Amino acid sequence: MPKLHLRRVAPVAVLALALLALAACGGDYPNSTFSKNTELNDGAVFIWDRMMLLGTIVFVVVEVLLVYTIFKFRRREGGPAPRQIHGNAALEITWTAIPALILVFLAVPTVRTIFENQRKAPANALQVEVIGHQWWWEFRYPEYGITTANELYLPIGRTVNFSLRTRDVLHSFWIPQLGGKRDLIANKVNYIWFTPKETLSPAALNGACVEYCGASHANMRFRTFTVTAADFDKWVAHQKTVAIGSPAAGAAAAAADSAAKAKPAVPVKTASIIPVAAPAEPTVPEAWVFPADKLPAYAIPSTPMPATAFDDALLAAGDAKAGRELLMNPANLGKAPCMTCHVVKGETNYATDDNAKGPNLTHFGTRHTFGAGLFRNDARTLALWIKNAPAMKPGSVMPTFGVGEFNPMIKQQVPAAAGLDDKQIADIVAYLRSLK
Ligand code: CUA
Repeated sequence: MPKLHLRRVAPVAVLALALLALAACGGDYPNSTFSKNTELNDGAVFIWDRMMLLGTIVFVVVEVLLVYTIFKFRRREGGPAPRQIHGNAALEITWTAIPALILVFLAVPTVRTIFENQRKAPANALQVEVIGHQWWWEFRYPEYGITTANELYLPIGRTVNFSLRTRDVLHSFWIPQLGGKRDLIANKVNYIWFTPKETLSPAALNGACVEYCGASHANMRFRTFTVTAADFDKWVAHQKTVAIGSPAAGAAAAAADSAAKAKPAVPVKTASIIPVAAPAEPTVPEAWVFPADKLPAYAIPSTPMPATAFDDALLAAGDAKAGRELLMNPANLGKAPCMTCHVVKGETNYATDDNAKGPNLTHFGTRHTFGAGLFRNDARTLALWIKNAPAMKPGSVMPTFGVGEFNPMIKQQVPAAAGLDDKQIADIVAYLRSLK
């Protein structure tokens, strides 16, 4: 074996390390937390930088002394015994005091940041309730009466105060580019708050559960959309409404219609010019969501699909009305019990937001993803999901519905009498995708 000569190896090693360090600084890191996009991350980045700087200085000084000592005082044949330093008070005080001083420079900003982070949010902050479920995220905006899932919209420039709860086990909330992590703990409400800075451009950011919570912990993701205040207002105005096509939407339209008929648009001067009421305009504001063509690649799911077959012709011919009838008619609850676990605002609901096992689906058709950020919200993926969700997401509470499909949770095939055929699934898909 050839002998390794330090003089030859050292420059190569230094070069390799330098290249490695340089490579680590480049590139696009969508899940990096060193992005100073909020005051919360500013604090964390400051402490990290300080720690890195002091740690690097200590490392370099210690290594230089170490290498110097190894060579300078190495054992030589016949040399004298080294001088002993045990009991050298001055030396011991010095090497205790220096680290203590360094720790002070770390501890002071750390403690200060901890107290800053634990302060109460400003009173005018946007309140968002975050509720963790195995394995998806519920987001409520109590100020607006909105309940949604897995897609969080935040206005740039406004402080947001999250209250964190869990419906089952421990989870942890983290949007690396904005802030976190903070745990969702049973029987306790935790808080975290931050302000997406004015300098931030509208963006789609990844979020994740960062506390191990069972089979699909790694599949408990979400998207955060930081949007302009004006776009946020548009999003809110639409998300507040009931589902399109629901009886409540019909009632609202009828009420608007009769109100328009009752009140003339211009002051009536004489009986002969009473204007004819215009036909009622649709009362649902146009859906505003983060534009699909602006989604960065990292925010578009690429989860592998199961090999389950589905007839594309059936999907294209899916009938939203028939799908709605399947879900909403109590006579179909045995076959399609969707509404016992999901809420659609304005429809017949058997569950409430407080006991629903699955996400609120009111404006499901406006979401880019489903399954807690795992899947693209397209007809085919959704059809496969309804057919056999547990085959696509381990431990899924949503059962297998496709006739003849094998449910890995209960290790049973769905009998023809109890399940949904592809036509029925295609109709349900059409209905769900119509919930804009
Ligand atoms: Cu929820 Cu991990």
